[in-house]
Amino acid sequence: MAARWRLGEASSLADIGCGLCHWSRLLYPYLRAPARFVGVDREPRWVAEAPGPFRRAFPQVSPDLLAFVQGDATAIPLPDNSFDAVTCQTVLMHLARPLDALREMFRILRPGGLMVCVEPNNLWNHLAFNSLTAGQTTEAIVRQFEFWLRYHRGKIAAGQGDHSIGDLLPGYFAQTGLTEIAVHLADRAASLFPPYDSPAQQALLQQELQWMESAAGPWDREEVCQHVLRAGGTAIFFETVFAELLEKFQREQQAIAAGTFSTAGGTINYLVSGRKPLPVADHS
Ligand SMILES: C[S@@+](CC[C@H](N)C(=O)[O-])C[C@H]1O[C@@H](n2cnc3c(N)ncnc32)[C@H](O)[C@@H]1O
Repeated sequence: MAARWRLGEASSLADIGCGLCHWSRLLYPYLRAPARFVGVDREPRWVAEAPGPFRRAFPQVSPDLLAFVQGDATAIPLPDNSFDAVTCQTVLMHLARPLDALREMFRILRPGGLMVCVEPNNLWNHLAFNSLTAGQTTEAIVRQFEFWLRYHRGKIAAGQGDHSIGDLLPGYFAQTGLTEIAVHLADRAASLFPPYDSPAQQALLQQELQWMESAAGPWDREEVCQHVLRAGGTAIFFETVFAELLEKFQREQQAIAAGTFSTAGGTINYLVSGRKPLPVADHS
């Protein structure tokens, strides 16, 4: 991807919603050294914690080249036209007004500079088949997808972001004024197959169990119910399908324990890139 994006031509990068900079630590070595880096995040915690891993990953880089600042993606505290590359990863999906953030990212990008955003379609994960799906009725599969679609739309209506924004990103890039727009897919899937012993598979299984045990994420009954109802689901629909999903989860856990569960895992993450156009020369 670095070659496709011609990252080696860039010697400055801003990562918006940088978190712990997992994403920008991957990109940084492909920039033209010595490269300037700024990580921006709304949460003071990440602004405080991100520099440690970044500096440890690149001990040879002068600390003067690295900065971490607190700021909102919709009002980025950085000057116009000041970066060769601007990026974000799984950030726009959390915003009520993602286009406002893209316009801000465009503003700080220099003309000719590269914008890269990585965002998912998380709804697709609920359509990925697994080794138990063949035993489900068509009606149950459709009902359960309807449940997640309503949850998803309820969340958007509540201003909590579009977790499938990846599908819309190329259009948003065009609206923002970016050119040379290109779309690629990440090559990593959330697969599960016996004996489930890779670190990635173990992390996935632990995440699922942790959500269930702490009634969080998809098992936060109250939150999920609010979103399903907000998007037109009825209380009886919610109760029926939530119970079905709990049962499905238990069947999957039993199959995992028996070593019979498998899925390629769905998982769609889009890598969308574009360039800020150069000003048109005025020959008058
Ligand atoms: C899923 S994490 C991104 C992880 C990050 N890309 C990485 O590589 O580690 C989302 C990040 O976006 C930040 N964020 C959410 N809303 C934001 C906003 N409006 N402005 C700036 N950062 C925001 C969160 O604090 C969080 O660090």
